Amino acid sequence: MSEMSLFEQPLHLLNEVQDAVVNDAESLEKFRIRFLGTKNVLKDLFSEIKNVPNEQKKEFGQRVNAVKQAAEEKYNSFKESLESAVVKVAHDLDLSAPGDMMALGSRHPVSIVKNQIIEIFKKIGFSVEEDREIEDDWHNFSALNMPDDHPARDMQDTFFVQQHPDVVLRTHTSSVQIRVLENTKPPVRIIMPGRVYRNETISARAHCFFHQVEGLYVDEKVSFADLKQTLDYFSREMFGEGTKIKMRPSYFPFTEPSAEVDVTCFLCNGAGCNVCKQTGWVEILGCGMVDPAVLQNCGIDPEKYSGFAFGMGVERITMLKYQIKDIRLLSENDSRFLSQFRAAW
Ligand code: DAH
Repeated sequence: MSEMSLFEQPLHLLNEVQDAVVNDAESLEKFRIRFLGTKNVLKDLFSEIKNVPNEQKKEFGQRVNAVKQAAEEKYNSFKESLESAVVKVAHDLDLSAPGDMMALGSRHPVSIVKNQIIEIFKKIGFSVEEDREIEDDWHNFSALNMPDDHPARDMQDTFFVQQHPDVVLRTHTSSVQIRVLENTKPPVRIIMPGRVYRNETISARAHCFFHQVEGLYVDEKVSFADLKQTLDYFSREMFGEGTKIKMRPSYFPFTEPSAEVDVTCFLCNGAGCNVCKQTGWVEILGCGMVDPAVLQNCGIDPEKYSGFAFGMGVERITMLKYQIKDIRLLSENDSRFLSQFRAAW
């Protein structure tokens, strides 16, 4: 090192002190070790003083001291602000305060009810089957005894897939019956939950998509009594021990005979209220004995096998159960609405 540059060294270090970025405990400690520690750079520089010409020794010493002073000032002032920041955080922190609760999600009411329905049928040996929402005409209509010109096709306003008149958004989960029966040899005892679509104007009572649970039991000698017994069991499990069912004759192309099922209103116990429109009964599902033509369409011998089927709307049961007056609430995902439903299901 030349004498000139040695004499200039303190100025370089002073710049370094001034430019050093000290913004946290770690950088402060690095700074301290370099300029103020037991082996700091200034000590090294002082030990070089013997190499400085006599007439410059005094000024050299002053320069080194100036660096030391600047380093001490910078160190102390940042240390202070760091400590007061820590003290402030500690001061503002109430360690005895209870922690913030994590916002837990809640299950959607439609899922709660759907799972309830599934659990009830699982207990009597039904298993769950699911299938596609985009269906072909055969599985949604024709195989279910609704050929092309059948007026019953108009019972369900259908969404067609553009340019593919044979492809529809399924209008009911009955299509899954066909999917399973085509590929399974009886006995078949299944429950089929899923989303369905109808070309309906959206209102408080109707939506263009909703959920159904379909049921199917096909075996030798399945009778209407089995159907009635099964639905009686379901209604008591779902709506309470005292619930009674009433079957009214109805029409569905895929069942013969067909029925609609009412249960005694579980809100007024049959006395009459708003939910049951003062009748004491609420309708919950459609059902019937699987039409022999449907079995035949799936390659199952209707002479040997018989079966029953039923289908229910999950939104409808959810609305009845929780007295929800507008179906749109069930698909709007408003957390103020959804957070009201807590259940173990
Ligand atoms: N698929 C019918 C609908 O969407 C519901 C239904 C009625 C299903 C009777 C069935 C049944 O399996 O037997 O309205």
